[in-house]
Amino acid sequence: MKKHFLITAGPTREAIDPVRYLTNRSSGKMGYALAGAAAHEGHRVTLISGPCDLDVPEGVDFLPVESAKEMYDAVEHYISKTDIAIFAAAVADYRPASVPEQKIKKEADSLTLELVKNPDILGSARKKFAFTGTLVGFAAETENALTNARSKLVRKHCDLIVANDVSRSDIGFDSSENEVTLVYPDHELKLPKENKYQLALDIIEKSLEINALR
Ligand code: PMT
Repeated sequence: MKKHFLITAGPTREAIDPVRYLTNRSSGKMGYALAGAAAHEGHRVTLISGPCDLDVPEGVDFLPVESAKEMYDAVEHYISKTDIAIFAAAVADYRPASVPEQKIKKEADSLTLELVKNPDILGSARKKFAFTGTLVGFAAETENALTNARSKLVRKHCDLIVANDVSRSDIGFDSSENEVTLVYPDHELKLPKENKYQLALDIIEKSLEINALR
């Protein structure tokens, strides 16, 4: 049966002043592959993406955003209309506490930025947005990948966490391939290293399996 997917992708940008921003590493390849694969399989897809230099996959409803707050608002607006939500975006966890209207002059030898926490979009899906569909998160880890992924699965009330090791240069950020472990509430499944489109097809299939059991 055809489903409606919501997918987040890419980095977010958090303004420091009118000409500078903080961001996270992410090319968007993983999220766009998920959107493209789901659309290719005939599902409806809403792709909410931070700034990426990629073509939007055919047949996808596309919503470009910049900041974590904008991504939060877009997800809040659309998630209740969808069956399966997959959060592949690398959201900036913090943003500058205030953003001056004018460019900061480089007069001082050092500069301290005060940062405040951004909303946790995935963590809001169940409690704040009351989403009852299938919830899939990613965990980008540099150590203790499976322990941290399992902790995210529980804390964020997900059905599945896709754990990837972003300390490796041949997978994860920017690369065309990824090697992940799927962390379920009661078991784990390690997938082989594969290109992001093939991996996306696998993740879509596993999400549909979970959705069928609900
Ligand atoms: O874009 P690519 O270059 O292809 O790289 C792919 C990827 C490495 C970015 C992707 O595979 C990946 O791991 N995405 C998640 C990156 C991340 O921010 O992970 P995290 O462990 O910090 O966050 C955990 C989960 O919470 C993620 O699903 C994230 O989207 C979500 N999150 C995090 C913070 C926040 N404020 N809101 C969120 O929704």
